[in-house]
Amino acid sequence: MLNTRLTQAFDIEHPVVLAPMDLVSGSRLASAVAAAGGLGMIGGGYGDREWLKRELAAVNSARVGCGFITWSLARDPDLLDIALEHEPTAVMLSFGDPAPFAERVRAADVPLLCQVHTLDQARQALDAGADVIVGQGGEAGGHGVGSRSTFTLVPDIADLIAARSPETLLVAAGGVADGRGLAAALSLGADGVLVGTRFWATEEAAVSPLAHARAVGATGDDTIRTTVYDIVRQYPWPADYNARLLRNQFINRWHGREADLAARVPEAVTEFHTGVAEQDFDIANMIVGEAVGRVHEILPAGDIVRRMVREAADRLSRWAAGTATLGM
Ligand SMILES: Cc1cc2nc3c(=O)[nH]c(=O)nc-3n(C[C@H](O)[C@H](O)[C@H](O)COP(=O)(O)O)c2cc1C
Repeated sequence: MLNTRLTQAFDIEHPVVLAPMDLVSGSRLASAVAAAGGLGMIGGGYGDREWLKRELAAVNSARVGCGFITWSLARDPDLLDIALEHEPTAVMLSFGDPAPFAERVRAADVPLLCQVHTLDQARQALDAGADVIVGQGGEAGGHGVGSRSTFTLVPDIADLIAARSPETLLVAAGGVADGRGLAAALSLGADGVLVGTRFWATEEAAVSPLAHARAVGATGDDTIRTTVYDIVRQYPWPADYNARLLRNQFINRWHGREADLAARVPEAVTEFHTGVAEQDFDIANMIVGEAVGRVHEILPAGDIVRRMVREAADRLSRWAAGTATLGM
């Protein structure tokens, strides 16, 4: 229905890519998105080796790639070989300079996707030879620099690509959850979208039903960018990064008091792990973006793909035919 450079390059039906969400985008979700005609991605994230091996082995579609958190991959670089052995459709690198890994990905003849949050990072990704730039705005769930919005970042990168490397593809990420978002992203110059939060809220996502129930009642206003959970998860994120999550009691207590939290690390870490074990989401983190407000029910991932594409194609064709009022 929506034929773009992305659908042609990856031989997929729809220009929709699953975000490689750490531990959430397992084989079940990635395979479901691929089966529906999108591009599935395994969330290699911080690099849980056994999880990664298991999920890559369980993938039942050829249209599935694998994503890594670049600064974390640098601590355990042979995880990339594990992914490449499975002949992924693509490798995606986020959060760090992709250059040290780009050559190995290219040598394996696997397309390289690089997620960026600024124009400078987009230039760095082009220098590294990215085949696809994923431009992520600060609306997005999860980590990023957070200072740019999807609505301005995507056309800025589209212009950069047009001037410097027209064969490179562009995918928009951050805030896309329905057909309106997909249609808007294509209008901004993207060849497709990468979707996290809306796929987090699907039956195939590795997410607690209690977290899903909480998300259904939330709006984008309930999310916040913070480093609070990086402190208690003890992940060494570069200083300019933070993450968008659902606000809860733990964030309300510590956001703005990060130095106090860091000074109380042993107790706070114990409290956090207890919250996670008990699925107490007043303490445990729920990583979702502003698009959580577009989540009204938990659905199969395939339904999300098909609905998003149908709505976007319908809007774009009705506007083009002059049979719909712009702005509806
Ligand atoms: C639960 C969750 C986990 C995420 N984990 C990762 C990750 O491990 N690696 C990564 O590159 N991006 C990760 N992201 C960010 C996504 O790649 C993507 O940029 C974002 O979800 C897009 O915005 P959206 O949530 O509004 O769809 C995560 C996002 C969410 C919601």
